[in-house]
Amino acid sequence: MTLLPLVLLVCVAYMNVAKCISNNATFRYTQFKETLVKINKCSNSRNIVAPFIVSTERECLKACIAEQTCRKVKLCNGRRCTMYSDGENCPERQTLNQCKCFVKKKSCTDAGCSCQIGHYGNNCEKVIEDCSHGSQLGYRSVSSTPIKLSYIKPLMSAEPFEILCDFRDSGMTIFLRRNHNCIGVDFNRTMEDYVLGFGDSNFEYWLGLEKLKQILLNHSSYKLYFNIWPKPYHTNRACNRKYEGFRVGNASEKYAFHVSNGVPTNFDCGESILGNMSINGQPFSTYDEDSTDEGCATSKGCGWWFITNGISGCTAANLNGGHGNITWLYNLTGLSINILNAGVVRE
Ligand SMILES: *[C@@H]1O[C@H](CO)[C@@H](O)[C@H](O)[C@H]1NC(C)=O
Ligand SMILES: *[C@@H]1O[C@H](CO)[C@@H](O)[C@H](O)[C@H]1NC(C)=O
Ligand SMILES: *[C@@H]1O[C@H](CO)[C@@H](O)[C@H](O)[C@H]1NC(C)=O
Ligand SMILES: *[C@@H]1O[C@H](CO)[C@@H](O)[C@H](O)[C@H]1NC(C)=O
Ligand SMILES: *[C@@H]1O[C@H](CO)[C@@H](O)[C@H](O)[C@H]1NC(C)=O
Ligand SMILES: *[C@@H]1O[C@H](CO)[C@@H](O)[C@H](O)[C@H]1NC(C)=O
Ligand SMILES: *[C@@H]1O[C@H](CO)[C@@H](O)[C@H](O)[C@H]1NC(C)=O
Repeated sequence: MTLLPLVLLVCVAYMNVAKCISNNATFRYTQFKETLVKINKCSNSRNIVAPFIVSTERECLKACIAEQTCRKVKLCNGRRCTMYSDGENCPERQTLNQCKCFVKKKSCTDAGCSCQIGHYGNNCEKVIEDCSHGSQLGYRSVSSTPIKLSYIKPLMSAEPFEILCDFRDSGMTIFLRRNHNCIGVDFNRTMEDYVLGFGDSNFEYWLGLEKLKQILLNHSSYKLYFNIWPKPYHTNRACNRKYEGFRVGNASEKYAFHVSNGVPTNFDCGESILGNMSINGQPFSTYDEDSTDEGCATSKGCGWWFITNGISGCTAANLNGGHGNITWLYNLTGLSINILNAGVVRE
């Protein structure tokens, strides 16, 4: 089987849909783009309704057009249609199904355009700078599904990129997402990887020190949040930890970590960032550029702002550790972390 007939088939299907839509006065303009299907056991993307059976690809795309909150659809075996409210690529647990993924770029009616999450403006031409900006514009998440895949474009970034946003309250831009239930992303990586970022916004990721800097650059002050779901644990709630005045140094300072102070929260995780193993002022270390005097990045198997000298143990918070080794020593001693969001909120 060659690729060419497949590609043509998709194009024909596209054109049929486009034709069908332009014939309908309700839809002035709609555009789908075929994106990727990614195999993993977990997904940060939200189904709108349970998957349903269709007889044609067109029917699946039409269902997405008819549903205002639909941002993308996944079609498996040409029959099973799943509509999602966010995201670029489609998650799929199994390798067996033949699946395709289509993103609705925007859909305009007489009432205006509905845009991909993060895009706004009369013609969806603008992109939010960070998730706090989205919250200011009225984006909202609910506590049952607090996180959403969104695009952001910090002022200093050339292109928009996909990221997880928590649009509750002031909006949190998540730069580190861990999920123990996923097929693991390897976090034992080089400095170059930690600078550029790795992983996938659908599953687990480290956004990258350069992008994190871009987010922090053009607004005076950011809070740093950790939302942690340990396992095993006495409740399903996350505990939280909050710091004010978060910034990271430049590349020649090895992206050193700085916060001004910690702030107690309602369900506090405890102090594993400052305290007696404080990482304040510490440079970022990886196994190939380790600033510590005891090879912390190599022994912990990940990059982090490890303590450079004087205190054994390297860090009280090992949030980039391998699955089963994601830990927050004080006061979650002996518990490994199942799910974690680390993010920044504009002050
Ligand atoms: C045209 O729009 C109407 C109203 O939204 C809808 O019921 C109908 O299914 C649409 N027709 C096509 C061909 O999409
Ligand atoms: C953003 O910050 C950078 C670095 O401080 C500065 O050069 C740039 O002019 C700022 N851009 C805007 C639009 O404020
Ligand atoms: C990095 O920051 C330090 C301290 O603010 C400054 O002295 C240095 O010039 C900066 N280096 C670069 C390459 O921007
Ligand atoms: C951590 O310790 C603090 C202070 O003792 C306590 O208030 C908080 O509830 C503890 N957090 C958890 C998640 O056990
Ligand atoms: C560091 O602080 C934690 C929590 O406050 C405490 O349990 C621990 O014993 C302290 N460790 C040292 C070496 O002082
Ligand atoms: C991390 O990778 C480095 C380089 O491959 C290796 O030397 C080290 O043992 C690894 N650490 C862990 C904990 O797996
Ligand atoms: C977790 O840490 C232990 C002890 O350092 C190590 O033996 C194990 O390989 C690590 N597991 C993963 C998945 O990194």
